[in-house]
Amino acid sequence: MEVIILPTAAEASEIAARLVARQIREKPASVLGLATGGTPCKLYELLARMHHSNGLDFSRVTSFNLDEYVGIDPTHPASYHRFMDENFFSKVNIPREKIHIPDGLTKDVPAHCAAYEQAIRDAGGIDLQILGLGSDGHLGFNEPGSSLVSRTRIKTLTARTRSDNERFFTGGMEVPHHTITMGLGTIMESRICLLLAFGEGKARAVAASVEGPVTASVPGSLLQFHPRAKLLLDAEAASLLTRTEYYQWVYKNKPAWQIDL
Ligand code: GLP
Repeated sequence: MEVIILPTAAEASEIAARLVARQIREKPASVLGLATGGTPCKLYELLARMHHSNGLDFSRVTSFNLDEYVGIDPTHPASYHRFMDENFFSKVNIPREKIHIPDGLTKDVPAHCAAYEQAIRDAGGIDLQILGLGSDGHLGFNEPGSSLVSRTRIKTLTARTRSDNERFFTGGMEVPHHTITMGLGTIMESRICLLLAFGEGKARAVAASVEGPVTASVPGSLLQFHPRAKLLLDAEAASLLTRTEYYQWVYKNKPAWQIDL
């Protein structure tokens, strides 16, 4: 696990954008795993700017989103289809047919989930997976207690996650109870995991994920088993870590050959 702490979320998002851009420049046909939520918004904005100003080309990129709510229409303002369209897909040139998001309206959830897994395999696997972190330590919508080898499937949200996400649901609509999410096993097969976590509300989940034991009770802790997991944190999200000085020294003193940002 590489823990990178920047003073602000904006600076951490800059580093994340440079990493994603580098991935695409090195492998134009990259397969990206994408996350929703407030955390990656700045990253998507920066990537869109790189597309418009610096010619960052997404035309050969394939994408797979982590998750979607069950039972809401893709046009619903709080759906992850809509979120991705508004924050990213409408601003870059990923071809529509290369964009994949679980279908929350599918009539056959198990078949849809199996097809989603197959589509990831057919694309050659995910090169770089962008991740946020739930305040309860969830990845995607893999809530605490999720099987560490789980695949794409239906999950039931905890009360805490439903309340965290209430801010995206206006007009009296309740946060759905169910979602379709890539599993922890699916996420762990990504070649690189890039987790972003910002704000003091994530500090406990970050500390448990980075310095606590690996446990299904904190899905983020599974990244300790990932060979190439990078965590980009702002100072608030990093505030409960105990090895902060060490992480900062490591980052500042990386040998030139090891720098990949
Ligand atoms: C959401 C998403 C996750 C996201 C997390 C954090 O519910 N399913 O993929 O990483 O919770 O959200 P936010 O970035 O808004 O804090």
